[in-house]
Amino acid sequence: MKALEIKKGIYCVGGIDWALRNFHGYLTQRGSTYNAYLIIDEKITLIDTVKYYLAEEMISRISSVIDPSKIDYVVCNHVEMDHSGGMPAIMRLAPNAEVITSAAGEKGLRQHYKQDWKFKIVNSGDTVSLGKRSLQFVMTPMVHWPDNMVSYMPEEKILFSNDAFGQHIASHERFDDEYPIDTILDEAKKYYANIVLPYASQAAKAVEDTHKLDIKMIAPSHGLVWRKHIPAILERYEKWSQNEKEKKAVIVYDSMWGTTENMAKTIYSTFESKGYKLRLFDLKLNHISDIMTDLMDASHICIGSPTLNKGIMPTVASFLTYMQGLAPKNKQVVLFGSYGWAQQNLKIIESYLPPSFEVIERINANYIPSEEFMNDAMKQLHSKI
Ligand code: FEO
Repeated sequence: MKALEIKKGIYCVGGIDWALRNFHGYLTQRGSTYNAYLIIDEKITLIDTVKYYLAEEMISRISSVIDPSKIDYVVCNHVEMDHSGGMPAIMRLAPNAEVITSAAGEKGLRQHYKQDWKFKIVNSGDTVSLGKRSLQFVMTPMVHWPDNMVSYMPEEKILFSNDAFGQHIASHERFDDEYPIDTILDEAKKYYANIVLPYASQAAKAVEDTHKLDIKMIAPSHGLVWRKHIPAILERYEKWSQNEKEKKAVIVYDSMWGTTENMAKTIYSTFESKGYKLRLFDLKLNHISDIMTDLMDASHICIGSPTLNKGIMPTVASFLTYMQGLAPKNKQVVLFGSYGWAQQNLKIIESYLPPSFEVIERINANYIPSEEFMNDAMKQLHSKI
């Protein structure tokens, strides 16, 4: 496999994961890439690596440019194994290479790989000369692990941003102007909603730091390299990291005998009558990671489940567990569902909600609600949205 030159002497040498469909619970329907970058200068430098099973692919791409044993520096912007899994293989080929990383990066790499590699610890503002060019480092802790940092090359105005600004897209194309931009931006939003969302304040700081740099190219570790649409992705990250919301209601439910589903559709009509943008998700048919993408910028979420035995529908519990971990903020909530002889469904749903959520209405029907019951409930809801 070949390396792809993205700038004179700078190559993309990562792996393309065409078959990836599940990234710890995140549906990656377009696969992904783990982008590693090789810089040919007086110091041969590799920025990040790949998942362990794509190490051979990365090495063959590096070998199409240079003998991997000549690598002097391996920069580890982030320890998570989709970017560090190829390090043992590359360090076996270049055992004298220095590993440039943050203090938390060194700790994480030692914990993962139990190797006494030669570490060079950097902090925000540190610069390492590669010869004609250099790398400056900016710590971006908790976007989205404690060790995260980004590397900036001022001479070429390239930001090697690791996870930030990434998208899970497997493609042979490497640049944002070679692939449908709407798809890239949709996948960047899904990536933010499912990976970065819990760390919005840290992401906002990282975006602020990025704005201070003169950038002509953003080379993330997943998906396409930004060179044409940099203002578009920065503007979106700014909006997402500020938790900006639309007048939008996301209705999420599962149903046993159709009652909760019918209630979901009635609630839909009530929001529709007030001019809301709407999304309706039957959890039997929709993936929780796609729902999170829509939920991220919604003002309202309506969650419905009947009581099932002593609990709720497992699809709803799975969604709630996933959402709880990602901790979206400041939503107005409508709880709904039906029960036969045990009313705990709404209480169980409520127990999963993040603290900043406000429940504005609870609609719980016994078996099948009468028309009068639903009319009254919708009148109440109408007055609160
Ligand atoms: Fe792409 Fe946090 O790893």
